[in-house]
Amino acid sequence: MASSRPYHREFIRRLGTIPVHGLGLSVDVHAPDLASLRRSLQERQVPPAYLEVFRTTSMALASTRKEADDGLLTYHGEGLWVTQPEMADSMAFGQGISEAAAHLQLLQSAWLNHECATKYLAGYHYGTYLPPLYTPLSAKVVADNTRLIQHLLDQQCRLANGSTPLVLLEMPPLTYFVAGTMSIPRFFQIVSEQVPCGLVLDVGHLWTVFRYSGAHRAMSLTRFVEVFLDEFPMDRVVEIHVAGLAIHESHRALTSRSRGGMGDDAPPAWIDAHAAPIPTVLFEMLDQILCHPQLTSLKGLALEVDTKPVELIVDEFAEFYRRYGPLFHRLINTEQVVPDFEACSLPEGPGLTPNTQALEESYDHYARVLAGKTEPVGAEWSQDKAGIQDLDLYRFVYLPYEILHWGGKVEDMFVESCRRLRQRDVSLDEFVAFWFREPRPFSGIYDFFLLKVDRFVEFVREVAPELQEIAEREAEELRRAYRFANEPGVPVYES
Ligand SMILES: [Fe+2]
Repeated sequence: MASSRPYHREFIRRLGTIPVHGLGLSVDVHAPDLASLRRSLQERQVPPAYLEVFRTTSMALASTRKEADDGLLTYHGEGLWVTQPEMADSMAFGQGISEAAAHLQLLQSAWLNHECATKYLAGYHYGTYLPPLYTPLSAKVVADNTRLIQHLLDQQCRLANGSTPLVLLEMPPLTYFVAGTMSIPRFFQIVSEQVPCGLVLDVGHLWTVFRYSGAHRAMSLTRFVEVFLDEFPMDRVVEIHVAGLAIHESHRALTSRSRGGMGDDAPPAWIDAHAAPIPTVLFEMLDQILCHPQLTSLKGLALEVDTKPVELIVDEFAEFYRRYGPLFHRLINTEQVVPDFEACSLPEGPGLTPNTQALEESYDHYARVLAGKTEPVGAEWSQDKAGIQDLDLYRFVYLPYEILHWGGKVEDMFVESCRRLRQRDVSLDEFVAFWFREPRPFSGIYDFFLLKVDRFVEFVREVAPELQEIAEREAEELRRAYRFANEPGVPVYES
């Protein structure tokens, strides 16, 4: 299989430059507190072999590098919207690549992990990841975009060992729905046939595929994992993630009355939740994954623990260490192939798909479906009735919550403006409608909090112009506090 795939040979060559990373933790440098996490892990004598760090400021990454001494660090990027046909056209993409290259260099990360998902599509912004449309054209676009990202990193980033960080695409979670015309593993197979990239298999994400693709109605979880892995390009899996799952807080009120509109025997309506405990079922799935004969490229196995309490992280990691440590000792002791680094180059340049208009139209429809402006009809939305009910949960419960609560609760951010809007009988639901009223061009690097601040001021200006000054004052205070929290060394009054 591998010999007929030129990109696979290139992948293997690049993989040869990456040391075995072992058992790690994927964290956000702001939560949990890394210093106290490190201390607690030391006390329990379960030090992680590497930390995967989510995108943040260069300053925060530099201090993480310093505190880690010689320890391995890897990078979880964001903002390179690899699923989107217009990715390469935006100014933000150029900035995003330079930033990613600088961050990778700073951390000396062997890979750039990026979700094969987006928070921006067809002119609309979202707070959490949306999966791509699972179609052949979409797979082609992901392949072209990923090749371009790898090509630019090859130009802009060189690690101390002379190699370039390898781009890894992570299979994203499903949040109540999926859209497309093909199976998810087949999609990743098409992508990996056209790019020398690696993949990240997230066990919790895989569970959400079982739950929201409707597979749970047709087969057992064990059978689903078996069928999925046999179609997925397992020999490209470089890292495995395990994180928590939970019923989302926006949905909890509904589930206390019912199971959320799903069939009686449906598994719980869990979604990806990094702060939540890891359910046992994910370790059973992981056991099954680790036994797969095609899992030949694995370098790291990490618990994703951002926003989780330190005590819970330590307990879960100690158990993880006990259960999976021996597997990695075996891998570390296996002889690594020394790569002939200078001899190879990419099989071909980063050429782009010429006609992506059809996909742009499909994504425009996708965004309109999510905003509740149009119905989920067409080949990509041929879900059964139960699937549509789950989609409505996304559209009418999860998404409004995301705009009003996630990454900053609007009522707490703009206390005075919201109080006065209430006096005028203006509901914040109108802000959600305003957010999705029309598409807007994307400029600058993605930051959902700052976007929310800007957009709310615009909203107030429109619905209650007399409150504009108050909203602007509150916005300026929010921006200043945010700047200070992210870059404490920068004076708060500096613009
Ligand atoms: Fe993940």
